[in-house]
Amino acid sequence: MEEIKIFAPASVANVSCGFDVLGFCLGPVGDEMVIRKSSTQGVTISKIEGQDLPYDVKKNVAGVAAETLLTSYPIDYGFEIEIYKKIKAGSGIGSSAASAAGAVFGINELLGKPFSPHQLIAFAMEGESVASGAAHADNVSPVLLGGITLVRSINPLDVISLPTPKELTAVILHPKIELKTMHAREILKKNVPMEKAIQQWGNLGAFVSALYKEDYELLSRSLKDEIVEPMRSLLIPEFESLKNASLNAGALGFGISGSGPSVYALTKGMDKAKKVSEGIKKIISPIGIDFEIHLSNINNQGLKIISSQ
Ligand code: HSE
Repeated sequence: MEEIKIFAPASVANVSCGFDVLGFCLGPVGDEMVIRKSSTQGVTISKIEGQDLPYDVKKNVAGVAAETLLTSYPIDYGFEIEIYKKIKAGSGIGSSAASAAGAVFGINELLGKPFSPHQLIAFAMEGESVASGAAHADNVSPVLLGGITLVRSINPLDVISLPTPKELTAVILHPKIELKTMHAREILKKNVPMEKAIQQWGNLGAFVSALYKEDYELLSRSLKDEIVEPMRSLLIPEFESLKNASLNAGALGFGISGSGPSVYALTKGMDKAKKVSEGIKKIISPIGIDFEIHLSNINNQGLKIISSQ
């Protein structure tokens, strides 16, 4: 195989009770990337469409992730990467993760798959850290493994795939303002009061249990964020009204997607998701910010090969 074209999906990180540890993969939204072998050693970014992103491999998340992989697998040729961005940078649905994960996934395929998906998470995480200023794997993991994932630890890396309840559906609202992950991390307080931590780990444990039991009511009770949401929601226009509208329309839970400004709701089934989407539209339409809404099943496959030659 000389060349591969892939689809690199968007993802939702944090998922309310799981700051920096929980994430799930989305279906319809994602970037495309073409990766091909080149006779020149190292990594070159030869084309970027859809976004104004750096061509310098040391500053581009896909470039950094790809170079990290190649330091563990020295070869006498290189790779050229074309990136067709559909996920807007700073949207909160894993734009940098899609690029980082896509680069390492594509190169691994062209190399004959020397690395496992878990090893690829470690390389992609290095790319992510360029965008956010800190290594975290809660977006790259669901993109590389598919479905819903839990990052138990990043050092050593230990990521667990969780089951997806069949009817679980996501609604994503992307208000088109840019929020940089780096900034959204800087505003977080460094210490958590014991009482809040207790609530959070209670909810996280219950959320995981709810996935295994397909218990939508328990899932709904657990989708709470006592720690990060109170700080970051201030950066998102009409956050409380959007949350109330979603919950009133039957959402199981509602929260910030990654570091925002996108927000997500989870529902049981597509019909409920459509109702939630209508409720959200009524709040966001009058405020005059351009927006997009995506409805998606949980994408259990993750990255996908579109073609290869
Ligand atoms: N867990 C990360 C954060 C996800 O919220 O900062 C954003 O990429």
